[in-house]
Amino acid sequence: MSAVVDEPVEAEAERLLRALLHVDCEPGRTWDLGGCRRLAPLTLEINTLKRERGAVILAHSYVEPEIIYGVADFVGDSYYLSRQARRTGARMIVFAGVVFMAETAKLLAPDATVVVPDRGAGCSLADSITGEQLRRLKALYPDATVVCYINSTAEVKSESDVCVTSGNVHDIIARLPARRILFVPDRLMAENVRRELQRRGVDKEIIASDGTCLVHDAFTPEQIAAARAQFPGLRVVAHPECPPEVAAAADFLGSTGAMMRYVRGTDAPYFLLLTECGLVGRLQSEAPDKHLVGGCRLCPYMKLNGLEKVRDALRAPRPDQVITLADDLRHRAVRPIERMFELAPAD
Ligand code: 13P
Ligand code: SF4
Repeated sequence: MSAVVDEPVEAEAERLLRALLHVDCEPGRTWDLGGCRRLAPLTLEINTLKRERGAVILAHSYVEPEIIYGVADFVGDSYYLSRQARRTGARMIVFAGVVFMAETAKLLAPDATVVVPDRGAGCSLADSITGEQLRRLKALYPDATVVCYINSTAEVKSESDVCVTSGNVHDIIARLPARRILFVPDRLMAENVRRELQRRGVDKEIIASDGTCLVHDAFTPEQIAAARAQFPGLRVVAHPECPPEVAAAADFLGSTGAMMRYVRGTDAPYFLLLTECGLVGRLQSEAPDKHLVGGCRLCPYMKLNGLEKVRDALRAPRPDQVITLADDLRHRAVRPIERMFELAPAD
């Protein structure tokens, strides 16, 4: 007797396989038709729930490929996703990423129910400084303009003058009238910005707090040198959260969105991506002709997402999955983000 084929499941499995076939960015995780058949009922269920709830799923490029290609409506970097949150008008936003990103979405879409698959999805940068610590720093530098990287809590944003992302940090700081900038929470990015502004001839004093990203801080110039020796013609593409010695040894430095555009638009035999492995997975899926050599790292927080948790957050979110922000905090924390939209270069 032949097995009964469930046609919608089979069609969904084939759709997933087309997207996931070339993705091989995490040890032990590849997809074949059998694996996609097992995923398909869940992605179908989530896509139905999404329509019923009037929800959209925003996903950062670092989350699991089955979220990106199975259920996400918008995938990209922090800046792109915050713009989508601001304009969506959806009743519900499921943010597959980390908590500071979902908080930012709630700031920009206060009438939407914003949920996270896993409340434990922190970020070593956002968790490195509290609002109270920033208030104490501000007291030491009362004349500084306070710039927060978007990887920060709503409380830290509420103490800041302007927010930036990895894609617009240089242009925004260059446009600020103040010479003295208090930049939180990434000290490595602060150093990279200092060097880039110096190169552009922009005179700024940048004082930084002491956070780093546990993923990007671990890349080294030795790793780049070894890869260049092994792969002639290699292009090294790094994120501005990397240490300055790594940034200096790379061929291109930019946000995850800019890294993707660079690889897609550059003709080179090999690329080394110094960032989280999810971005490598996106390029393997969407630009399979590019030869990406190993070296990426996993963000344990981003990897706390998962299809089951997305489904549960959509179906009946637990209180810990729902982002709530007091009105007063929200009004103060959204201001630096709106300032960012005013100052960011048009694209
Ligand atoms: P992007 O905004 O460049 O995607 O960076 C977000 C992030 O968390 C990088 O580690
Ligand atoms: Fe935070 Fe780094 Fe993870 Fe990005 S990769 S979410 S900066 S810990």
